[in-house]
Amino acid sequence: MQDLLPARSDVKLVRWPFEAARRDQVPPGRGAVPAGGRGRRETTGVHRPARGLGQGADQQGRPGGATGSARSDRAQPPPAPDGPERHDPLRQPLGKDWLELSGIEVHNVRGADIRIPVGRLTCLTGVSGSGKSSVLHHALATSMEAVLAGGEPVNAAKLLGAQDFGWLAVVDQDPIGRTPRSNPATYSKAYDLIRTLFAGTPEAKERSLSATAFSFNTAGGRCETCTGYGKRQVDMHFLPDVWVTCDVCDGRRFGPDVLAVTYDDATIDQVLEMTIEQAAEFFTQPPQLATVLDALVRVGLGYVALGQSATELSGGEAQRLKLANALVRGAKGGKRGLVLLDEPVTGLHPADVERLVACLDALLDKKNTVVVAEHDLHLAAVADWIVDMGPAAGADGGRVINQGAVADIIGGAGPTVAYLRKVITT
Ligand SMILES: Nc1ncnc2c1ncn2[C@@H]1O[C@H](COP(=O)(O)OP(=O)(O)OP(=O)(O)O)[C@@H](O)[C@H]1O
Ligand SMILES: [Mg+2]
Ligand SMILES: [Zn+2]
Repeated sequence: MQDLLPARSDVKLVRWPFEAARRDQVPPGRGAVPAGGRGRRETTGVHRPARGLGQGADQQGRPGGATGSARSDRAQPPPAPDGPERHDPLRQPLGKDWLELSGIEVHNVRGADIRIPVGRLTCLTGVSGSGKSSVLHHALATSMEAVLAGGEPVNAAKLLGAQDFGWLAVVDQDPIGRTPRSNPATYSKAYDLIRTLFAGTPEAKERSLSATAFSFNTAGGRCETCTGYGKRQVDMHFLPDVWVTCDVCDGRRFGPDVLAVTYDDATIDQVLEMTIEQAAEFFTQPPQLATVLDALVRVGLGYVALGQSATELSGGEAQRLKLANALVRGAKGGKRGLVLLDEPVTGLHPADVERLVACLDALLDKKNTVVVAEHDLHLAAVADWIVDMGPAAGADGGRVINQGAVADIIGGAGPTVAYLRKVITT
């Protein structure tokens, strides 16, 4: 079993904070809580800063208490022993609405059925090669996308429960764009709002500059020598091409007319050089812009320049940018979203994991559904629902070997469950 788990899982188990998990032990064998009868767990091996860690008051002996579930940081008296009258919206029972994907056939997955509680956090666990990403990207994402577009599930026989969903976000580490024309400002749509602000200034109006003039992607206001890149590519014949600063705009990307316009004393090229954190302080209106910038800060991108080219973003940064877009979308009213993340914890510092979990919480608070494929069992320990793939990799994997709330599967068999017990009770 040790051999099956990637070495890095062990490393994380040692490195991560255990206190919270310890305080919320799930005693093995006490997991026979009907799925419908338990509340949202607020317990966590990773801290949930959005809601704090609470007092852990109501752990003992009640339905749902066995999961360490019914904790809240809200200043409330301990709830009544048997739950139904709890007046905490976070303690809605699992089991009312489900997304069910059955007959999954893709890669090594042969005929698997999965259930996902709507509005909750599900963690897909399993050893490397067991089929997590296959299920997430090639069955769940593909089927949801197809069904939302009025089609049939892809790589699965049936998808039930999709009618409550209005959108899907796949938050992976793939690049957000392959050209320097895309950057955090354009990808988050913050730039559209910023351009509109600049076009609304008296200076822009005097010069008859519309919002389009402040785009570096269309002709009109940009520097045409470098077509808005600020740099020019020099062909080196036998060596890789090099980029040199445009000598006409001096790297400022725009023509003199546009660069003469200021919004609150900043020119458009200065705005693009601001970090997201600086921009969030600088732009306090319109509210939509403040919301977008706030989401970018919340996912941990505050240090990135608004205009940093997409080609220069790391995989983790690209993933957080997608998460920020999902946060903005998820906070809007209307139909709820399905947000899928593949190994978001990989490479994150524990402090960043706290931030990640807070972002997932924000999505859940707005009734969106989150599914994460993740090796790191500390994330699994805070999930409402586990879909455990295995038992091994490749042809020896691809099956759902455990499925349920942590408390319900903790007594089961398989490598994940064995390690999950350690995470929760160490
Ligand atoms: N495009 C593909 N075509 C055929 N087989 C694939 C494809 N992608 C993955 N597989 C195989 O399917 C199995 C499951 O792969 P998958 O990527 O779903 O595993 P995983 O659980 O996400 O693993 P990891 O934790 O390493 O990301 C593996 O044996 C893999 O080799
Ligand atoms: Mg994978
Ligand atoms: Zn130029």
